[in-house]
Amino acid sequence: MTSHFSRVAFTYDRTRYHPPEVSGRIATALTAPVEKQFRDPVFLEIGAGTGRIAVPIIARGYRYIALDNNPAMLEVLRQKVAGVARKARLVEADACELPFERGSLHAVIAVHFWHLVDNWHQALRESLRVLRPGGFLFEGWEQSDEESEDWRIQQKWKEILSRQGYTLVRGRHQARLAEVEKALIRYRLEPKTRMVADWIELRSPRVSLEMLTERIYSFTWEVPEEVFRPSIAELAQWIAQTYPDPDMEYPIHWKFMLRSSRLPQPLG
Ligand SMILES: C[S@@+](CC[C@H](N)C(=O)[O-])C[C@H]1O[C@@H](n2cnc3c(N)ncnc32)[C@H](O)[C@@H]1O
Repeated sequence: MTSHFSRVAFTYDRTRYHPPEVSGRIATALTAPVEKQFRDPVFLEIGAGTGRIAVPIIARGYRYIALDNNPAMLEVLRQKVAGVARKARLVEADACELPFERGSLHAVIAVHFWHLVDNWHQALRESLRVLRPGGFLFEGWEQSDEESEDWRIQQKWKEILSRQGYTLVRGRHQARLAEVEKALIRYRLEPKTRMVADWIELRSPRVSLEMLTERIYSFTWEVPEEVFRPSIAELAQWIAQTYPDPDMEYPIHWKFMLRSSRLPQPLG
């Protein structure tokens, strides 16, 4: 897993791009409720990656700890915050063993994260351990509509793989989010989910193909090379036959979803 992120560190932002106004809305959704409750709060993001979520919050001057176990992802983040990182700390560590005191932080943020961690139970326990009473756990993710040309191309690839005898597993992220939600409820928390932003991305079939070819999405990582190569060649052929102009852009409708849980306050 770590090595996959080292490989995609410099292209990651392209696959999960947020327009600036969307980044701003996400930053506000994460900071406003915390600021209402605590003075000068400290935020921790586990699996902060290249800082898509972190950078806009750091730029607003919040105390922010960006934690990741991948040095290449953190290096991209380090370069981005070079000028604004006065109150930011970049920490290379495993989210399953957080190097922070119990009850010391005001908010923990996990975006596109749980499905990548086998031992997510432990990472969740750790997140709740470091939060102070009344602290916030935020989980975020993007969802795209399933009617875009990009989705159609991915479905076509899945079909090609299946004809070659390989079953592509998708939907791990959503399945994991449901497991985490159940765990939160077992901890007697009350997770609430809402959409905080939506936007349209324009993407051409050529770019959709490139993203699969470069194995940027985690659902492509397990496909063995000997199956991957011919399946992508067949997909490229199908795209050439199906789209007269492979550079023509089609819309993808994205939503950013945020699930918030708040630790109870001590009585009295
Ligand atoms: C899909 S990226 C998400 C990055 C960022 N949260 C975002 O939404 O742009 C997931 C990140 O989690 C990191 N990661 C995976 N397992 C981890 C672990 N056990 N501890 C810390 N970071 C981890 C990866 O290195 C990667 O940078």
